[in-house]
Amino acid sequence: MGLRFTLAITGASGSGFGVATLKRLSANPSVERVALLLSPTGKRCLFDETGLTPKDLAALPKVSLRDERDLGADISSGSYRHDGMAIVPCSAGALGRIAAGVSESLVSRAADVCLKERRPLVLCLRETPLNRIHLENMLRVHDAGAVVMPIMPGFYSGPESMDDLFDTFATRVLDQLGLREDDSRRWKGGPV
Ligand SMILES: Cc1cc2nc3c(=O)[nH]c(=O)nc-3n(C[C@H](O)[C@H](O)[C@H](O)COP(=O)(O)O)c2cc1C
Repeated sequence: MGLRFTLAITGASGSGFGVATLKRLSANPSVERVALLLSPTGKRCLFDETGLTPKDLAALPKVSLRDERDLGADISSGSYRHDGMAIVPCSAGALGRIAAGVSESLVSRAADVCLKERRPLVLCLRETPLNRIHLENMLRVHDAGAVVMPIMPGFYSGPESMDDLFDTFATRVLDQLGLREDDSRRWKGGPV
């Protein structure tokens, strides 16, 4: 049986990182299905920053869209078999709702389910600067089992374009989901 993942895009800048992560998941041969969901502000940021709509993303192989108001969707239940979730980018608002256990939307409910079922949950927070509430919320979700992976791309691979930067970061997100892909941009050591 192939692997199933959930990818959420919430209302923070950096939706290109979410698109790159979705493309990587979609192209990975071990992946059978990707459930995609976007918050209302996530849709707006996606369009503003990339010109893409959720429908465009749902046209990728293996990707199917969920309505984020639908708390009866498959990923809302712990009994639905899947292998982890990433929120890329994750707004400070989404982080706060997850940290507080408020499951009023499918994004926060699906994340809550990952924590209670001990499945990988990767939160790619995008906000700067950070206030005390953000910092405390990051610690709360970390202690509950999430991986807090702020959008802080690495530059040592010498990215030549924004897409390169997005894609390198996406590979790191897949690492955290247990999908360790071959990637020539991984650090191999160097002269001291
Ligand atoms: C254009 C735009 C850009 C935003 N960028 C960010 C951001 O980078 N980080 C953040 O935490 N919130 C950002 N926000 C605010 C969030 O979208 C807002 O707090 C929202 O309630 C988050 O809800 P969501 O997680 O359901 O999308 C932005 C809002 C807009 C309209």
